[in-house]
Amino acid sequence: GKYVKVKKDSCIACGSCGASAPDIFDFDDDGLAEVIYEGDNNRGVTLIAADLQEDLQDAIDSCPTSCIKTSANAFA
Ligand code: F3S
Repeated sequence: GKYVKVKKDSCIACGSCGASAPDIFDFDDDGLAEVIYEGDNNRGVTLIAADLQEDLQDAIDSCPTSCIKTSANAFA
């Protein structure tokens, strides 16, 4: 599994990640993406379920600024 968070200062609010993985990403009032999965609140501390890994990879691949970060460990 993977942990994920959006580096919001690099997000350009393109919307692609939420289209690819609506169970993982939503957008704040400025249209910037954040991880909403299981109440993570873009902390990167919630392990993404195996059945969402494909959606997650699609989102990562679709992000024009590569600001979706993943880690094998929870983000500090
Ligand atoms: Fe932002 Fe990348 Fe999503 S630019 S809206 S994190 S696809």
